Order: sequence, then structure tokens, then C-alpha cells
Amino acid sequence: MKLILIVGTRPNFVKIASILKACEKYLQINKLLVHTGQHYSKSMNASFFADLEIKDPDINLEVGSGSHVQQTANIMKLFEPIVLDYKPDAILVVGDVNSTLACSLVAIKLKVKLIHIEAGLRSFDRNMPEEINRLLTDTISDILFVTEPAGVKNLRNEGIGESKIFLVGDVMADTLKFFKKKAIKSKILKKLKLKKKKYCVLTLHRPENVDDILILSQIMKALMKIQKKIKIIFPIHPRTKKNIKMMNLEIKMKQMSNLIVIPPLSYLDFVKLVSKSKVVFTDSGGIQEETSILGIPCLTLRENTERPITISLGTNRITGRDPDKIIKMYQETYIIDKKRIQSKFWDGKASQRIIQILLDLF
Ligand code: UD1
Repeated sequence: MKLILIVGTRPNFVKIASILKACEKYLQINKLLVHTGQHYSKSMNASFFADLEIKDPDINLEVGSGSHVQQTANIMKLFEPIVLDYKPDAILVVGDVNSTLACSLVAIKLKVKLIHIEAGLRSFDRNMPEEINRLLTDTISDILFVTEPAGVKNLRNEGIGESKIFLVGDVMADTLKFFKKKAIKSKILKKLKLKKKKYCVLTLHRPENVDDILILSQIMKALMKIQKKIKIIFPIHPRTKKNIKMMNLEIKMKQMSNLIVIPPLSYLDFVKLVSKSKVVFTDSGGIQEETSILGIPCLTLRENTERPITISLGTNRITGRDPDKIIKMYQETYIIDKKRIQSKFWDGKASQRIIQILLDLF
């Protein structure tokens, strides 16, 4: 089987790590790892490859940043000759970023089979670029690997053929389970002088939160109050850093003496930081799952989630962006029943199931 595997951004690296591991023992799988270069800064890219023990990509398209249209189009143009040259049996994409959609479009245009990992998730909010990427990628995929039951329901509702859908569980959980022991050794708590459960973690990067000054100011208003009670560690995404500067919100941030802004963390440091925290505030998709698997309360600073399993298991709560509601939900911080969160979809074997299915199909 000749497979091209696509990565482009941080969450893609986490997902592909477990797929690559599951492929290791099957010599009959020839793989070409293509990095689109959507994420390129050391802290967003190389440090993840090192932590996750991923080999260097065979090809890097070095597409870099740009408008969504430019980024998608540039990836497509650069990726087409690679597919024509390598002649894969299938192209495997993960997640919902621009790199995912761009390479999926190349696959369908060149009539190469398309495999989508993490198919079927829906926030039902078409203002989110990721929702468009998910919908379009799923529509043209030949094999759809789904992380949770809601994803199967969504795909059925959209008329995707039953024979294409496989509920296999979450490959992010595979990676987390595999690297958890290694992450324990991270010295990040010592480095930041933190004590277990005496701090919160914040991540914020969604355009709908950080590209809009009113919404970002509302979130900061809530943080202003919360940080008076507890330290908040904020590994800042470059998009957010750039916008805070552009919107002249830096002064406001500096007034929050307990909001500790640090550069983006590598995977192992981040897992350790989250696993010892009291609460995580986030607008990320993957972090809602990772906190759930680690049994850490998560408050999602969004109006919706495409990962409803994290809500039904009781680990994640949607706060919206109203400051009073965020503060209230933080004050109601809850204890997680660790027994309840043993989801069979997070058993660490999703990648193995995926590879087994692919070997049967090809
Ligand atoms: C992208 C994904 C998002 C995912 C996130 C994970 C899309 C539409 N969005 O968002 O779904 O949750 O990655 O982090 O694909 N930048 C750097 N260095 C980098 C990469 C980006 O400085 O290595 C800066 C650039 O200024 C760039 C901005 O961050 O313009 C945004 O990067 P981009 O890849 O467009 O989107 P993300 O916000 O990272």
C-alpha cells in the first residue's frame, strides 16, 4: 500500500504521531510524509516533531501563512506534482485545518482515494473555517474514520454511505496515552514555579475569539477577575499575540499580574502543565478532548463544541464569551468522576484499528 500522509499544523502532528507508530510493524505500507508548512515556527513545529518522535517529513511544501484562500490554493498547487509523481493508493488527512482541505481537494481532482481521520465532527457553526473544512473534506472522502458516536450520526444525516464510515475512536488519545509517562518527567512546573492544582491554563487562538476586539476584551474582562484569585498560565499562540498588539490590549494584559504569558509550549511540557492544573480555559478543539482524557475540568470559551462526548462525560463545559458567565462557571468548578471518563473511544488503540481496516481494504 502506498500512502501519502499529510500534516500542516500542531494538532495534526499529535494525530499523525500515533498513525506513524501503528504503521511501524507493517513493512507493506510505503509512506510519504508531506508537511504543508502551514505551521513553521520552531515552537509550533520542530519542537512537536522532537517530542512526538516523528521522523522529519519527506517533503515540506513550506507554504507558510497567508489568507485562507492563498494558503489553500498554494498548498494545492505545490501538492499536485507530488501526488502525480508518487502515485499513491490513497491520501490520508487528519483534522480540520486548511492543509486538510487543500490536500483533500487535490486527492479528489486527481481521483486518488481519500482517507479522513477525525471525520464527522460538527459544531454546526459555518462561521468557523474549521467547520467548512470538515464538511467539504467529509463529502469527498472515501474512507471516514470517526472518533465518537455523534460523528457517525452527523455523517448519516449528511447522506454519507454507511460502508465508508468506521467508528474507531480518537487517535489523539492514543498519542496522549503513549506519551503520558514521558510527559510526567517534564520540568515545566519547576521552571514556572508552579504548585499542583494552584494554577489554571489558558489557550486562545480561534479567529472568532481573537480577531474581534469586543469579544477578546470580554474574555479579558473575565480573566482580569479570575487571575485575582489564581495564577493563569497562558502559552500564547502567535495569532493571538499579534492581535493583542494590534488592538493595543497589551497594557490591559500587563495589568494582570497573575496572568503569566509564555511562548507556545512543546507537547510534553503542555501535557504536564495541563495534567497538574486546576482548570483549563480553552477555545481549542483537541484540548477539550485531552483535558477529558486527563480528568481535568475544561471550560470552553466558545458558544458550541464539535466534541459533544466531552460534555456528556461531564469533563467539559461551554461558557460562551459573556464575562459574568465565564466567572460564574469558573466559581462552580467541579470535581470529575474519574470512573465516568473511561470512554472506550479513548483506549489508546484507535490507530491500530485504523491500520487494520486499511490493510483489509487495500
Ligand atoms: C490553525 C487552524 C486551526 C487550528 C490551529 C492550531 C486553519 C483554518 N486553522 O489556526 O484550526 O486549531 O491551526 O494551532 O487551518 N503563525 C506563526 N508561526 C506559525 C504558524 C502561524 O507565527 O508557525 C502566525 C502567523 O501570523 C499566521 C497566524 O499565526 O498568520 C495564524 O496561523 P494559521 O496557520 O493561519 O492559523 P492558526 O490560527 O494557527
